[in-house]
Amino acid sequence: MRRTVRFLLNDREFSLEGFDPTLTLLDWLRNERRLVGTKEGCAEGDCGACTVLIGRLRNRELRYEAINACIRFVATLDACHIVTVEHLKKASGGLHPVQQAMVELHGSQCGFCTPGIVMSLTALWLGAAQAPSRERIEEALAGNLCRCTGYGPIISALDRAYEIEASSADSLNVGRAEVARKLAGLADREVIEISEGGRRLFAPATADQFAELTAAHPDATLVAGATDVGLWITKMLMRPATVIALGRIGELDRIEDKGDHLVIGALVSVSDARAALGGLDPQIDELIRRFGSEQVRNAGTIGGNVANGSPIGDSPPVLIALGASVILRRGSERRTVPLEQFFIAYKKQDRQPGDFVEALIVPKPRPGTLFHVSKISKRFDEDISAVCAAFRLERDEAGLTTNAVLAFGGMAATPKRAAAAEAALAGRAFDAQAAEAAALALASDFKPLDDWRASARYRSTVAANLIRRFQAETATGSVHRVAGILRSDAHA
Ligand SMILES: Cc1cc2nc3c(=O)[nH]c(=O)nc-3n(C[C@H](O)[C@H](O)[C@H](O)COP(=O)(O)OP(=O)(O)OC[C@H]3O[C@@H](n4cnc5c(N)ncnc54)[C@H](O)[C@@H]3O)c2cc1C
Ligand code: FES
Ligand code: FES
Repeated sequence: MRRTVRFLLNDREFSLEGFDPTLTLLDWLRNERRLVGTKEGCAEGDCGACTVLIGRLRNRELRYEAINACIRFVATLDACHIVTVEHLKKASGGLHPVQQAMVELHGSQCGFCTPGIVMSLTALWLGAAQAPSRERIEEALAGNLCRCTGYGPIISALDRAYEIEASSADSLNVGRAEVARKLAGLADREVIEISEGGRRLFAPATADQFAELTAAHPDATLVAGATDVGLWITKMLMRPATVIALGRIGELDRIEDKGDHLVIGALVSVSDARAALGGLDPQIDELIRRFGSEQVRNAGTIGGNVANGSPIGDSPPVLIALGASVILRRGSERRTVPLEQFFIAYKKQDRQPGDFVEALIVPKPRPGTLFHVSKISKRFDEDISAVCAAFRLERDEAGLTTNAVLAFGGMAATPKRAAAAEAALAGRAFDAQAAEAAALALASDFKPLDDWRASARYRSTVAANLIRRFQAETATGSVHRVAGILRSDAHA
């Protein structure tokens, strides 16, 4: 057992012990290190003012990613390299090329958002030898809110940074091998325990250690990327007595392609899952692009999205439509549950104390399968779904439907299939009449919630229209997109 968390912060190594187990990285940076370039805007992962880079070794390769420091616990950053805006200053004392470009192009006014924006742009810059496309830059900035400047100059600043200097000359890129060597030296297989005032956090390094800890502490709060749990601390002011963090368990952070299915470890980030799941259908790629922001997707995990069991989580409808199952583990015992059966009632899953989500098994759609995904939300970027829908339809040689799976989020207390609507499609051609019958049958499948995100009537109307749309797209052979905006026009 190790009682310290060890990491690099900018150019210094730290070894911390005996501190609040759920102390956020933002509070530690600002209050204890006085690194106040990293700002606090919302403390809930929305505004991006707190964006920092986290460097981690993945398959021995050092990768820097932008994350939100406000909802990340320091105790979960063992063997990481934390990079704050202060570290971008050149050895000569001059500005970093991204900062210089922001100055030249007037990309900053009040300046509150600027360090976060610089860090998001720097994450892109470090990973690409040439300026990324405008679309890619916009995507990377979706989690950085600027209330005064306007995004035009900010987006152009990245192109200008490449004119000022090659990104390969950045000291973080030049120093990669040295940092990777140091991080490898910090990583070990000891369980970490951080405690203070009777509260504690365990960070196991292997799935076996994790299984032992969850069996010994069945009431512990599990945390992966903390993009849900972080808000329980910062917004709901919860103070869990025991936390078990999964972040160091490399074996849960793997994607295996088994030919006809994928096995996705619970700890795979939403960003990495996008690469694998998006390859199955471009609509899934677009859906995940609209999942939170780049910072949220880099930290949040696919296992956390499923385990959280939110009725408006974005991955469950797609995974249910694909026919996914979840592998649950307790100690050395494992059981596999079809995902649609995992969600029992509002925030109640088929998980016994001590169970954890180990992986997801995701079948690949067979050739000829019809597939449809929609996310309906008030904003295009960084918004939770009002309704999320994923449909899979298989037909025989005569064109008759042999299997229809219509999965919805936002329509019930859990992510759920529409059994009556599916039955209305079975055994017949998928034509306008069949779609209409299914759309009408939805009324007996769901009594959706009325809340500030959307009224029940709105949700019911949209859900029925999505089935009609699926059929219309199938009939015309087109996946309807408006200027790359996936169905955000389907607001009624
Ligand atoms: C600004 C913002 C935007 C967001 N946008 C979206 C969005 O568009 N769509 C969406 O679906 N979600 C969104 N989320 C929610 C969140 O990002 C996702 O639910 C994410 O996938 C959670 O993963 P995590 O690793 O951060 O989970 P954590 O916060 O670490 O954990 C979430 C829950 O899962 C449990 N848990 C985690 N891993 C396991 C495991 N392996 N076994 C058992 N239990 C486990 C935890 O105990 C907790 O109950 C957003 C969050 C924020 C802050
Ligand atoms: S302070 Fe707003 S995202 Fe962290
Ligand atoms: S410059 Fe003021 S918030 Fe962006």
